[in-house]
This record gives sequence, C-alpha cells and structure tokens, in this order.
Amino acid sequence: MALLLHLNDVDENLWSKKITDKLGSYPVIRQSDNYNKKQINYMLVWKADKNAFKGLNNLKAIFSLGAGVDVLLKHKNLPKNVPIIRFVDEELSQCMSDYVISHVLMHHRCFSHYQNEQKNKHWQQFFPPPANKRSVGIMGLGELGLHALERLLPLGFKLYGFSNSKKNIDGVVTFSGKNELNDFLNQTQILVNLLPLTPATKGILNYKNFKKLKREKNFTPSIINAARGGHQKEIDIIKALNDGTLGAASLDVFEVEPLPETSPLWEIKNCYITPHIAAISNAQTGVDYFSKILLEHEKGEALVNVVNIKRGY
Ligand code: NDP
Ligand code: OXD
Repeated sequence: MALLLHLNDVDENLWSKKITDKLGSYPVIRQSDNYNKKQINYMLVWKADKNAFKGLNNLKAIFSLGAGVDVLLKHKNLPKNVPIIRFVDEELSQCMSDYVISHVLMHHRCFSHYQNEQKNKHWQQFFPPPANKRSVGIMGLGELGLHALERLLPLGFKLYGFSNSKKNIDGVVTFSGKNELNDFLNQTQILVNLLPLTPATKGILNYKNFKKLKREKNFTPSIINAARGGHQKEIDIIKALNDGTLGAASLDVFEVEPLPETSPLWEIKNCYITPHIAAISNAQTGVDYFSKILLEHEKGEALVNVVNIKRGY
C-alpha cells in the first residue's frame, strides 16, 4: 500500500513533506523514488506525464490536484474504471469568488470608461446605476459558481445562473440546458464563466453568444472567464472588443498558456489579463482534503467528489 505523488509544475517537495506528516504510517512515494508499482493504491496527480499511469494496476483512486479535470480526462493512458476525485475546497472557492467579485464590480462601475477618461483628462459625469439595476449571469452553478453567487447576492445585483440541470436558488433566476442558453444570455450584462471544459462547453464564449448579451445605453456587456481557455474563442473576443460588441473582458485563462507574446489580447486596453491565478490549490488545505479521503476510504468509507467520466466533470 502507498500513495504516489506525480505533481508537475507545482512544488512536489512541499506537498510531499506535508502529506507525509499528515498520513503518518501510510507510505508516500515521489515520482523520482525507486518503488514497486504494485504497491501503489492511490495517486495524487497534476499535469501527468505520458507514462504516468504505466504499470499502476492496483490503483483504488486517482486524486486530481486541480478542480478542473479536462486535461486529465484526455490523458491517452488514463486507467479505465479507476475513480477520479477532484479538488473541492473552501479556500479555492473563496479565492475564485474574490476574483469574480473584484472584476464584476470593476465592470459594473465602468472602470474601462473612466480609466480612459482619466488618460484624456476629460471630466464628464455620468453615473453608473446601483447594483440592483445591473445583471450578472454565472455559467456553471457548481462548487465555484454557487460560492460566487452567494457572495454577489448581498451586493444587490440582479443574478442569473445557467447549469446543466435545473436549480432553485433563492434570489437567482436560473436557466438550464442548451435550449435555455439564449434566454440566459439575453438577461445578462456581465457574463461570468465557471463551467468545466467539456465537448458541450468548448468555445461557448464566442461572437454569436456575445451578440445575445443584454445591451443598454451607457453599458456594453462584459465577460469574465476564470474557467478554461478552451471555453473562449480568442479571435472572437478580439473582434468583439474592437467593434464594441463587448465593453470589456477579464481573462484568467487562455487557449494557449502562457499567453503568447504575439497575442493581440495583451494590447487591448479594455482586456484585463491575469496568468491563471484566479484560484490555486493550497498545499495545506489540499493535503488535509486528500489525506482525509484516503484514510477514510481505507476504513471502508465511500469516496467523495468523484468525477463523472462520461459527463466529463
Ligand atoms: P463543478 O463540477 O462543481 O460545477 C460545474 C457546473 O457547470 C455545474 O453546475 C454543471 O451543471 C455546469 N455544467 C456543466 N456542463 C454544462 C453544460 N454543458 N451546460 C450548462 N451547464 C453545465 O465545477 P467547479 O465549480 O468546481 O469548477 C468549474 C471550473 O472552474 C473547473 O472545471 C475548472 O476548469 C475551473 N477552475 C479554474 C481555476 C482558475 O484558477 N482559473 C481554479 C479552479 C477551477 P450541473 O450542476 O447541472 O451538473
Ligand atoms: C484548477 C485550476 O482546475 O487551477 O484547479 O485551474
């Protein structure tokens, strides 16, 4: 019995120290160690190499360090019939809500417009309406979407939500399924994407959908994407920002990461770029979370937050 760490692009050393302390006598093995593959029952993985799963025939579960599992599910050698547990964590959700709220407020108060006015030393008053006259629509009403909605609600915004299955949420008008996407977009002035990346959601942030967003005098719709770059058609965002279909865009994720220096997005003044930092998996809360699941599973408890592989999230 052992847990194998296979963590790329994060500090595996840090995770290893913390999880070794937490698991006590349960063995923890690193990818660089010499070990017998037969002894591996669990694996904690991020950005798996091509041969990451080779010979691991005794896996009871794969733990995904990330909340999003789109890349893991596309891994060519992902073992079949092994449950995948994704990261669900209050701190991760709080960080995402912080990102969403800051960008929603920025667009609501017409930040791009006034920044431009300042540059031009131009004093011209117009008053953004109160939050209860502004509509925010969140696509994806899972862990992150619901957390953000709960925190936007007390700020007074008109709130709309879009998910696969129908939801009843106090203070939020909800839509579900692709037949209701247009109605959702028609109500939305500030669009927030917190969907998982699946074949059904790929490219959903496109020009056609931007045209459907609610338009008003003195406010052009804005988008916020903190989910995956595969949701957005960057060529469409560039066009929409340049022709005034969109008033602003906040992008934390990109079709190609790091965003290439040649991307025109860098230069567009009402495009707000961050390098995939909206929410990061914290080593301490992550270790607490995965250790608890592993130890409880060893005692016979059911796994939690298991990815539905068929659905893709
Ligand atoms: P969840 O799985 O908890 O929630 C997904 C939500 O999306 C659910 O409400 C689901 O509907 C809905 N959904 C899925 N497919 C569709 C569809 N085709 N049409 C409409 N709704 C759909 O995910 P999380 O909230 O935990 O995370 C969302 C994403 O955020 C992750 O997949 C990841 O890519 C991204 N992320 C980005 C980070 C960053 O730093 N930028 C950090 C962490 C995550 P239903 O409820 O009906 O199933
Ligand atoms: C995640 C991420 O999916 O960091 O957790 O993007």
